[in-house]
Amino acid sequence: MKEILEAIQKIGVRIDSQIKRGETDKAQSFNTSGDQQVKLDILSDQIVEEELKKVSSIKEIISEEKSQPVEVNGKGEFLVAYDPLDGSSLVDVNLSVGSIFGIYRGDYKGENIVGAGYIVYGPRLELVWSGEDGKVILYRWDGEKFNRVEEVKLKEKGKILGPGGTQAKWYPFHKELIDSLFQEGYRLRYSGGMVPDIHQILLKGGGLFAYPATTDKPKGKLRRLFEVFPFALIVERAGGKASNGTRPLLELGYSSYHDTTPCFFGSSYEISRVEETYSANPL
Ligand code: AHG
Ligand code: MN
Ligand code: MN
Repeated sequence: MKEILEAIQKIGVRIDSQIKRGETDKAQSFNTSGDQQVKLDILSDQIVEEELKKVSSIKEIISEEKSQPVEVNGKGEFLVAYDPLDGSSLVDVNLSVGSIFGIYRGDYKGENIVGAGYIVYGPRLELVWSGEDGKVILYRWDGEKFNRVEEVKLKEKGKILGPGGTQAKWYPFHKELIDSLFQEGYRLRYSGGMVPDIHQILLKGGGLFAYPATTDKPKGKLRRLFEVFPFALIVERAGGKASNGTRPLLELGYSSYHDTTPCFFGSSYEISRVEETYSANPL
């Protein structure tokens, strides 16, 4: 899987330099999830495809911006599902965005994910990767190469909360849960970009990121293959938990490539609060 990490490093540098050129325009096209694309979504998808196609251990790739997988090497061992530019609606306001990668064997079920990584395009270029050894490692770009910074580990309990979704559409019990965590002293940390929002929780040692079922989106917004399973693997390997409210996210399958699911990522304490609430309030 080392060659996939190396390809992701190249992708990070290339997409970062495209973002820094300052193109923020929307495209006239929509992806399979119905989101209007920005030009950078399309360009980032092309860059990722170009770099992953050079890796012979990859059998096929699929992305948030593609309706179907693209074959790479029929004899390859890995399937890669990716979100080339996460948080692209934040590009125009110059907030951090990211790229997310899930490496699978066999098919794209949660239980088949064997590695994952994400890139953060922020004031610095950073990469978090978890490969065969099961560790979660933070790397930072110094202008010439990525250097290993530290192993990422979550504590039992954090202090920050990123509650996603439209509040007016939250179920009442979800609102009560979020209110009660704020009452306990949690502080709001939410940018609207899953990558920087979960990155903050991982590097600060804990907290909760939630993108729940809402009355207008009963299956949530975030996509299983490209966003949810990769972060579930990373958060769990860092010692945290990833749940759909009642079950570990990595126990879920998919019926179409762009399936979504409600999702909660965090340290053990916060996820146990989520699971108590959701098991008492079946949807
Ligand atoms: P993308 O830019 O790849 O479509 O994903 C954006 C995601 C995620 O980063 C974020 O947590 C969530 O969408 C926010 O969505 P809303 O602002 O629509 O709630
Ligand atoms: Mn995304
Ligand atoms: Mn995206």
